[in-house]
Amino acid sequence: MALKKFFNPSSVAIVGASRTKGKVGYEILRSMLEAGYKGSIFPINPNTETIEGLKCYPDLASIGQVPELVIISVPAQMVPEVMQQCAKVGTKAVIIITSGFKEVGQEGRELEQRVIQIAKQGRMRVIGPNCLGVIVPGNKLNASFGGELPAKGAIGYLSQSGALMAAILDMANANGIGFSKLVSIGNKADINELDIIKALAVDTETRVIVGYLESIIDGNAFVSQAEQISQQKPILLMKSGGTSAGAKAASSHTGSLAGSDVAYECVFERAGIIRCSSIKQQFDYAQAFANQPLPAGSRVAVITNAGGVGIMAADAVEQQGLSFAKLSDETTKKLAAKLPAAASINNPIDILGDALADRYEFVLDTVLDDGGVDVVLVLLTPQAMTEPSATAEAVIKITSEKSAKPVLACFLGASKIAEAAKILRKGKIPLYDATEMAVSTIKAMTEYVRWRTRPKRVIKLFAVNRRKAENIIERYLRRGVREINEEDSKEILEAYGFVTPKGSIATTAQQAANIAQQLGFPVVLKIWSPDILHKSDVSGVRLGLNSATEVMDAFDLMMYRIPKQVPEADILGVLVQEMCGGGKEVILGVHRDPHFGPLMMFGLGGTMVEVLKDVSFYLAPLTAEEAKQMLVDTKTYKILKGVRGEEGVDIDIIAEGLQRLSQLVTEFPQIQEMDINPYVVGRVGTTAIAVDARISVEQS
Ligand code: ACO
Repeated sequence: MALKKFFNPSSVAIVGASRTKGKVGYEILRSMLEAGYKGSIFPINPNTETIEGLKCYPDLASIGQVPELVIISVPAQMVPEVMQQCAKVGTKAVIIITSGFKEVGQEGRELEQRVIQIAKQGRMRVIGPNCLGVIVPGNKLNASFGGELPAKGAIGYLSQSGALMAAILDMANANGIGFSKLVSIGNKADINELDIIKALAVDTETRVIVGYLESIIDGNAFVSQAEQISQQKPILLMKSGGTSAGAKAASSHTGSLAGSDVAYECVFERAGIIRCSSIKQQFDYAQAFANQPLPAGSRVAVITNAGGVGIMAADAVEQQGLSFAKLSDETTKKLAAKLPAAASINNPIDILGDALADRYEFVLDTVLDDGGVDVVLVLLTPQAMTEPSATAEAVIKITSEKSAKPVLACFLGASKIAEAAKILRKGKIPLYDATEMAVSTIKAMTEYVRWRTRPKRVIKLFAVNRRKAENIIERYLRRGVREINEEDSKEILEAYGFVTPKGSIATTAQQAANIAQQLGFPVVLKIWSPDILHKSDVSGVRLGLNSATEVMDAFDLMMYRIPKQVPEADILGVLVQEMCGGGKEVILGVHRDPHFGPLMMFGLGGTMVEVLKDVSFYLAPLTAEEAKQMLVDTKTYKILKGVRGEEGVDIDIIAEGLQRLSQLVTEFPQIQEMDINPYVVGRVGTTAIAVDARISVEQS
C-alpha cells in the first residue's frame, strides 16, 4: 500500500523523546507504548540514557539499524539537522510534529523549504510539519500526541487541523467510533491531502474517507482523482475558509457572485464528494457509510414504537425528498396476522408502545424481505415495557442474517438507552439521537448512489470558428487591454455559434437616427466607452426607442449627462442596436477560479441577478445533463418552464448556450470572466439572442 512505512512501520524512532511528562516528545513515546505497538521503538535524546525503561540513543546513527519511521519532535531550528541524520541513516518516512514553519511567516517558510529539500535529496517522504501525527489502530500504532488509541474501524480520517483531530479522537473514543487510519497532514509540505486520500482509497481496511480541509494544493489533480476515488469509496469532507475574496476583484456579475466557496461546492459536486457542515454531521454520515451497505434506491421503511416519532421521521423523509416504501400485500398480510389490531401496518409501521424486542425482530425481518423497501429506519423511545438492549440485540441479529439493505437506528432517550447504544455501536448499526439526522444520513447515502450511477460524462464539441476568437483575444492581450469591448465580445460569441443583435456605432445624433431607420424600430441605445462596464449604472442604456426623434433626443441626453457623471471615461459614441423582445432574460456566465478553472453560472438575467442571487454554478466543461441541471437548480427554472398556463421558453437552447460557452472558456484559458447578460430566450423554435456580453482576458 502507498505510504506503507507511515502506516505499518516495523520500527519507529522518536527524535526529541523527552523525560518530562507533558512535553510533546514524552507524550508521543507514551502513546506509542500504551497503544501496545509491536515493532521496535527507539527514543532519541542525547541528554539521557533511558526513558520509560527504554534505552535512549544520542542520535539516529547510534541505533545501528534503519528505523522505518522517524517522528521528529525537537525545536524547529534543529529539524534540518535531524533530517540530514535521517537521510544519512536511510530512513524513508518522516513525521515532523514540530511547528514554527510556514505557518509563522517568511523565516519559517524558508526553513520548511530547506527541510523539504533535504527530504527530496534523501528520497524521503514527509508528513507535516506542524502536525499531530499518524494513528493506525489495527497496527497499534499511535505516532501522535492526540490521546488514546481509538478503536479499529473502517473510517479513514485526514485533517488539516491537528487540534480538530484531537477533538475528534476524544469524541470518537467516547462514542466507540472506530478508524482504519488517522492522519494529521499539518502544513502539507510534502505529502498532501490528495496523497492521503489516494492511500486510503487503496487501503482495504478503509470503507469511507473522511476529512477536514482548509485548502487544496493542486485543484485540477484533486478534481480528477477524487472523482475516480469517489466511484469506489465515499469521501466525506468538511471544508472551512470559504471567503468571498475572489469576488472582490471581480468586474462581472458572475465574478462577484462566485466566492471561493462556490468553487469548492462545484468541485465537491463534480467529484462526488459529500460535503459536511459539522463534525457531528460528518460522523453521523460516516458511521453509516462505514458500516452499512449502500441502498439500492430511496424507498424508506420506518418501524416505530411511538406514533409521534414516526410522524417526525415521515416529515423528514418528505422534506429530504426521499420516498416512503409502499409495503407489498404479502408484507402487510404477514404483519397484520401477527401484530395487535391497534398497530399501524402502513409505513411508518407503528408497533405500539408495548412492543417488546421480539415484535421489533419480527417486523424488521419481514420488512427487509419486501422488494419495495430499500432502507429501514428503526425508531425506539424507552417506554415502561420497552426493552432497548434486547431490541438492539434483535436488530443486530436480523441485520447479520439479512445484510443486503442498510438499517439505521434512532433510539431516543439517555440513561435508559445507554446500554442499547453501546450494543448497537458494537454491532455496527448506525445510531442517531434525532430522526432528522438519521433521515439526512439516508439522503446522503442515496445521493451518493445517484452520483455513482450517473451516466458517463460526455462533453459535446460544437463546430466553431476558433481561429476568429483567438485572433481577437490575442489582439487584446498584445495591447495589454483586459476588457474586450461589446462589439468584439459579440464577434467571439458569434464564432462560437451565438446569435447577437444587429447594430452599429454612431458618433452623432443624426448618424444614430440613420442606423435606427436601417435596423427598423424599436431600437436600443447604449453608451459606447471602454471605461464604462455597467452601462445601466450611468443611465447608459435606453430601450424601446420608436422614432428618429426619440433616438436623437436619447443620444443627445446621454452625450450631455454621462461625461459629467464619469468625466474620466473615454466616450467613443453610442451603439444603436435592434431591440430584442418577447422572451425571458437569463444570464450565462463564467468565472475562472485560480485553483479549479472555469466555473459556469446560470441565473435570471438583467440587473436582478446580483439582487436575487438565484444562480447556479458548475465546473466546466459541461455535459448536456449538467447544463440542464444548472437550470433545474434555480427557482428561475419554474418561470422558464411557464407558470399558470403561460408558455415556457426553449430550455434546451439555454442548456446548449451554456455548453457552447463552456467550450469557449475551456479552449481559451485566457478568458478570466465572462457574462452574457441578458441572453434573451423565446419559446421553442425561436432564436435565442446574446444581447449583451462582457469578456475579460489575461495572459494565461
Ligand atoms: N536530538 C534529540 N533530542 C534532543 C536533541 C537532539 N539533538 N536535543 C535535545 N533533545 C531533547 C531535549 O533534551 C528534550 O528532552 P528532555 O525534555 O528530556 O530534556 C527533547 O529533546 C525536546 O526538546 P526541547 O528543547 O525540550 O523541546 P520542546 O519539547 O520544548 O519543544 C517541540 C519541541 C514540541 C517540537 C516544539 O518545538 C513544538 O513545535 N511545539 C508545538 C508542537 C505542535 O503543536 N505541533 C502541531 C500539532 S497540530 C496542532 O495544531 C495541535
